[in-house]
Amino acid sequence: MPHNDKRFDPQHQHRLLNAQRQSQWDPPRFLARFGLTPGQSVLEVGSGPGFWTFPLAEIVGATGQVWAVDVSQELLDALAERNPPPQIRLLHGELPKIALPDASIDWAWLAFVFHEVEPPEQLVSELRRVVRANGRVAVLDWRPDAETEAGPRRAHRVSPDQVITFLQAAGFARAAQTWQDANNYLVEAGQ
Ligand SMILES: C[S@@+](CC[C@H](N)C(=O)[O-])C[C@H]1O[C@@H](n2cnc3c(N)ncnc32)[C@H](O)[C@@H]1O
Repeated sequence: MPHNDKRFDPQHQHRLLNAQRQSQWDPPRFLARFGLTPGQSVLEVGSGPGFWTFPLAEIVGATGQVWAVDVSQELLDALAERNPPPQIRLLHGELPKIALPDASIDWAWLAFVFHEVEPPEQLVSELRRVVRANGRVAVLDWRPDAETEAGPRRAHRVSPDQVITFLQAAGFARAAQTWQDANNYLVEAGQ
């Protein structure tokens, strides 16, 4: 599959599931801050092989849903091989289009993918369409001024202020940066 040069190379998928990343992020602990509850509908944009998907499925439980959207069939196959529970629904497709109905999602999660998608204006507009009233969106990504040389090329990164501006322009309210460390940041917004 041809891909733009910002897009994650599926050949490097082992980097997304390794033990170092697991202990760095501890997904169940990191996700706990969002106050998600059983039965909710979560959209995971750019899920890859499922680093965040499985802990999200644990939180929303059998009565909830986690829509895992990714352009890479190879990465979705890798997720499928990890025996996902039935509340994980795989959705192969290319962003910015999101093949879900209007107002169908309680919470949308974009981990290390916002900077890969073109054009960002259409991505946030699609997010606004699928997230329901009182729904929320969260973007975790790389700081352009990160300390480490790991991660995507600096020229490809999007700053938290830029993410906030895109979200506000699409009509999201209360867009703000809610966390950062030396390398990454989190932006959250509501409908
Ligand atoms: C750096 S990986 C992050 C994966 C996952 N969110 C994580 O943190 O482990 C970025 C993911 O976004 C997907 N992606 C990038 N551009 C995309 C697009 N235009 N449409 C759908 N998925 C895309 C890639 O295939 C890849 O799985």
